[in-house]
Amino acid sequence: MLVLLTVGAVFAQKPVIHPNQLAPYVPSPYQIVDRMLELAKIKPGEKVYDLGSGDGRVVIAAAQKYDAKAVGIELSSRLVKSSQEEVKRLGLSDKVSVVHGDVFDADFSDADVVILYLMRDSNNTLKPKLEKSLKPGARVISHDYEIEGWKPNEEAKVDAFRRGHKIFVYRMPPQK
Ligand SMILES: C[S@@+](CC[C@H](N)C(=O)[O-])C[C@H]1O[C@@H](n2cnc3c(N)ncnc32)[C@H](O)[C@@H]1O
Repeated sequence: MLVLLTVGAVFAQKPVIHPNQLAPYVPSPYQIVDRMLELAKIKPGEKVYDLGSGDGRVVIAAAQKYDAKAVGIELSSRLVKSSQEEVKRLGLSDKVSVVHGDVFDADFSDADVVILYLMRDSNNTLKPKLEKSLKPGARVISHDYEIEGWKPNEEAKVDAFRRGHKIFVYRMPPQK
């Protein structure tokens, strides 16, 4: 009886979804992270943001491989905590910060590079903020999903985990 009640209680629970949840947590494979950062042509000291930074792998790689100043913005407190611990463990606290928050509330106007792995509709929702905030010359790199209405300056396809991943590169102001 107790088992039935427990199982019932578990299935009755609805997942708690934040109203501004732009995408579920699915990490970019490391091959894709490497290729996105390569396509971003990051110079040492440039500021790189990952909007929805997951476990922090993109911002960590940007600091380790390109000596970037990297900022992750992430809605999930669990992922923020684990990525902050990883940043500290790797001794990257002077170069990488991971902020707990919603990308819609964040100021990323000083970005040289913005990395996105969200969803098609989420990119559309975020597009006006990117257009308003980002300075000329800033690069936006999007994994898998285009930003509709912008013409990519470059596109790449990378095979990882038994499928082809697309990468779209845009330079601000975007070509339309
Ligand atoms: C598909 S994952 C990508 C993770 C990481 N960028 C990568 O490429 O490995 C999307 C992430 O965005 C986060 N996210 C979704 N909506 C967000 C929002 N409004 N503000 C901040 N983070 C958000 C999710 O919690 C998730 O970790």
